[in-house]
Amino acid sequence: MELVLENMNKKYKECYAVKNVNVTLRPGIHALLGANGSGKTTLMRLICGLLKGQGSVHFDDIDMNSEYETFASHLGYMPQHFGYYPHYTVKEFLEYMAIVKNLNSDYSQKRIQLLSEKLGLSDKLNQKMKTLSGGMLRRVGIIQSLLNEPDILILDEPTAGLDPKERIIFRNLIASLSTSTIVLLSTHIVSDIESIADDILIMKEGEIIMHGAYDELLKIIDGKVWEVNVPHQDAALFMSKYRVVRSHHVANQVNMRIVSDHQPHPDALSVSPDLDDLYLYYFAEEMPYETSHKK
Ligand SMILES: Nc1ncnc2c1ncn2[C@@H]1O[C@H](COP(=O)(O)OP(=O)(O)O)[C@@H](O)[C@H]1O
Ligand SMILES: [Mg+2]
Repeated sequence: MELVLENMNKKYKECYAVKNVNVTLRPGIHALLGANGSGKTTLMRLICGLLKGQGSVHFDDIDMNSEYETFASHLGYMPQHFGYYPHYTVKEFLEYMAIVKNLNSDYSQKRIQLLSEKLGLSDKLNQKMKTLSGGMLRRVGIIQSLLNEPDILILDEPTAGLDPKERIIFRNLIASLSTSTIVLLSTHIVSDIESIADDILIMKEGEIIMHGAYDELLKIIDGKVWEVNVPHQDAALFMSKYRVVRSHHVANQVNMRIVSDHQPHPDALSVSPDLDDLYLYYFAEEMPYETSHKK
């Protein structure tokens, strides 16, 4: 099973929202990581055929453009902002989505039962959508995306608004699908995906600038992550001179975690990198303390 994206481009006026994307995805969890505005939603909408752009999308032999209905029968999609029907109950909404997806009613009733149990929503089925919390709505969104047992599951910022417990439920659910489903999920939150993604696609200004397994990507910055304790009065200087991932106070000093090609201070110790470090390495200019960074 393969989802093949070739030469995908989408322009708004003169600006590329998606640029030259060529990627092949197999079953597993693929995390699309990028800052806000980097093109994640646009790419996902192109894959789902909700936007027209250049390039092609194939699921095995099925061409998304010319065989859309067949393609869509393999697809589950949860949009970043899904329009819901406030006066429907959860059950009515899911039944409605099942009809849109052309599913037969016995099958969809079974799926609704099974998925709402898995996501801890079975006692909410008769509640109106407008009474649900953000996290519960998101769970309903995930359920509707899974009704047709999709081979391709596209989830746009699925963990936005989930509380820690809901994140765990979500992670377990996704992990349970991952051997048989091509899951593409977007996020701008690094910690969401560290433990579940098989590979990571880093998107910047519409392009996939990196694609690889977690460990492979981290090798890129091996030897470039440092920790050092500096006196309080020097903290601002370090902040302005280096890419500081995090800092915290220890006794009367400040411990800083720094991403730098060179040892920032003779006392700085090299530490093993994580995804936050990698992200900062590539997105330093988009961090809030941007203006003071020297690259
Ligand atoms: N309908 C649109 N018209 C014009 N520009 C758009 C439109 N949709 C998205 N964009 C632009 O495309 C870029 C990518 O947006 P988006 O795909 O929403 O990014 P992300 O999901 O990563 O936050 C942004 O610069 C955004 O402003
Ligand atoms: Mg988005």
